[in-house]
Amino acid sequence: MPWRRPVGPRLRMSGRHRLAELRNVVPVVLPSLLLCDFGDLASEIRRLEAAGVRALHLDVMDGNFVPNFTYGMTIVEAVRRRTDLPLDVHLMIAQPERYVRAFRDAGADVITVHAEATHRPIDLLEEIHSLGAAAGLAINPPSPVSAIQDCLPYCDLVLVMSVQAGFGGQAFNPIALDKLRELRGQVGRDTLLEIDGGITAETIGPAAEAGAELFVVGSAIFRTPDYTQSFSQLTSQARRGLCAA
Ligand code: DX5
Ligand code: ZN
Repeated sequence: MPWRRPVGPRLRMSGRHRLAELRNVVPVVLPSLLLCDFGDLASEIRRLEAAGVRALHLDVMDGNFVPNFTYGMTIVEAVRRRTDLPLDVHLMIAQPERYVRAFRDAGADVITVHAEATHRPIDLLEEIHSLGAAAGLAINPPSPVSAIQDCLPYCDLVLVMSVQAGFGGQAFNPIALDKLRELRGQVGRDTLLEIDGGITAETIGPAAEAGAELFVVGSAIFRTPDYTQSFSQLTSQARRGLCAA
């Protein structure tokens, strides 16, 4: 039996409750654990906590729905044992319905699935809710907002991809800004809008202005020497964009 940390009160809260807490502190920059040093995960998490991050984003890729392969529930569970921060798990996998329970059991607070990966998005979002997690739905750049129209009332979060899912370090696709503006006009304040891919100090402001509240960042944190500095610079740029909105 592996050693387990005692479960603190925050971890007993439902994922929807934990996401609601983030809503109170937007804009929130979520480091994506894709480009971090997995050989020293514990110290990477410590550095991010010291930088003041409010939640972590975990990119799960299966080499099938996307051409890249990352990690599964073992890493989610390892991260869960090291931190009480909310874990936002982005599933870039085929047949996500087969695995949502396992990711919830591993400690995911928010589980986001791709609209392009499932034929039954509403059932899946409801299943994620029934597991006690917050439910997110993601769309890749070619998918229009109209493709997920019927699902919006079931989403706690909508993830607008500003790169084609699969790899970190890609260039920002501004088509995401149009989709955020469109979504902002359609969902209530209870539904959080998240953007992921190519977010930098230059792109984060326009994304906030277009309606994003949660910002996933890989390279612009992990390819810099000082996480605290890059995280706070990104957060203040996002605040500026949000104020201009
Ligand atoms: C891409 C992933 C992203 C990625 C972001 O498929 O979903 O979370 O890690 O990395 P950057 O910020 O480098 O685009
Ligand atoms: Zn992601």
